Amino acid sequence: MKQLKVGVIGAGMISDFHLQSYKRNARVELVGVFDLSMERATEKAGRFGVRKVFGSLDALLEDPEIEAVSICTWNNTHAELAVRALQHDKHVLVEKPLAMGYAEALKVRDAAEGKGRVFQVGFVRRFAANSRVLKRFIDDGALGDIYYAKGTCIRRIGNPGGWFSDRSLAGGGPLIDLGVHLIDICWYLMGRPRPVRVTGRTFDPLGNRGHVENLDFYKASDYSADKNEVEDLAAAMITFENGAVLMLDVSFSLHARKNETGIRLYGTRGGAELEPELMLVSEAHNTILNIEPQIDHPTLDFDEAFAAEIDHFVACCLGDGATAAPLEDGLAVMRMLDGVYESARTGREVVFDDDPDGE
Ligand SMILES: NC(=O)c1ccc[n+]([C@@H]2O[C@H](COP(=O)([O-])OP(=O)(O)OC[C@H]3O[C@@H](n4cnc5c(N)ncnc54)[C@H](O)[C@@H]3O)[C@@H](O)[C@H]2O)c1
Repeated sequence: MKQLKVGVIGAGMISDFHLQSYKRNARVELVGVFDLSMERATEKAGRFGVRKVFGSLDALLEDPEIEAVSICTWNNTHAELAVRALQHDKHVLVEKPLAMGYAEALKVRDAAEGKGRVFQVGFVRRFAANSRVLKRFIDDGALGDIYYAKGTCIRRIGNPGGWFSDRSLAGGGPLIDLGVHLIDICWYLMGRPRPVRVTGRTFDPLGNRGHVENLDFYKASDYSADKNEVEDLAAAMITFENGAVLMLDVSFSLHARKNETGIRLYGTRGGAELEPELMLVSEAHNTILNIEPQIDHPTLDFDEAFAAEIDHFVACCLGDGATAAPLEDGLAVMRMLDGVYESARTGREVVFDDDPDGE
């Protein structure tokens, strides 16, 4: 059996999910790992049975054995590392967001052109079982025309600190970190309509709420309550060419009663909730039906979703077909994210009246 030889760049929290998924895939050989922290890379290599720990990025990229890479580093490095990996003819799976902004994402597109390599963006939600099941129902017409979607990911105290709260490394706060998933999955399930108008607002009155006691939350390894440059909350409305609308709100800090993730879509024939758990809403014989699909993972399960995402990437690299999370979708989502931040900055609606790929 042909095995795909893989290298992983960045050995932090999310790399665990990439490494364990590659390790479980019989069609993969984990060749090497590189991180700015040699100690972290060495620990991960030991834990996941990776053969080589590279001392530099160049050493990993110049290793002819490595055919594909996962990029699991800070947001500010995604585009640059993706370009460099493509220059070395590697297949690329890059964590979200694709880049810090649309202009940077275009450089990745230029580098990918004509390379004939698989380029997959880490839109892991697309591969989760609840999304896959819902997509089948949607493709079969169960919702009719989807004209309204709502994505919400509220953390009342959940600014991870570290690089996540450093604008120069993260590119923004909850919008680029969490909102990227919500925009992507709603847009994907809506059938990828062309965005035409974006209105967004961001707020930062609470900061990282570093004074709060007796309530635990995820913190980056270099957490410091003193440093925070990103928004607390972002809210947005995106209107598409077909008239459909996506509403979004995401927060790291908010006086909310509890944390909440909701992803809901409404169409002419039915509705659906992807989160907090998969549910379809329909109507038959003058009666409203709430339908609960019986599946193992009705809500996002990280292990399951990352395994499916990586298995798909590996299959594509080995020639089984085209990726379901292509570079062009990363660009489209990046453009919507940019639109929300620009609208928030200017206080005006952003209008996209051209073809995004036209330039
Ligand atoms: N898909 C998801 O649901 C999901 C969830 C969490 C994080 N992420 C994404 O994964 C990425 C990493 O997040 P994390 O939570 O693992 O952060 P982390 O801080 O735990 O790990 C990041 C690692 O990247 C390393 N690094 C940074 N720049 C590097 C470079 N140029 N070369 C080599 N190594 C470098 C750091 O030393 C660190 O070990 C982020 O882009 C984040 O948005 C995605």
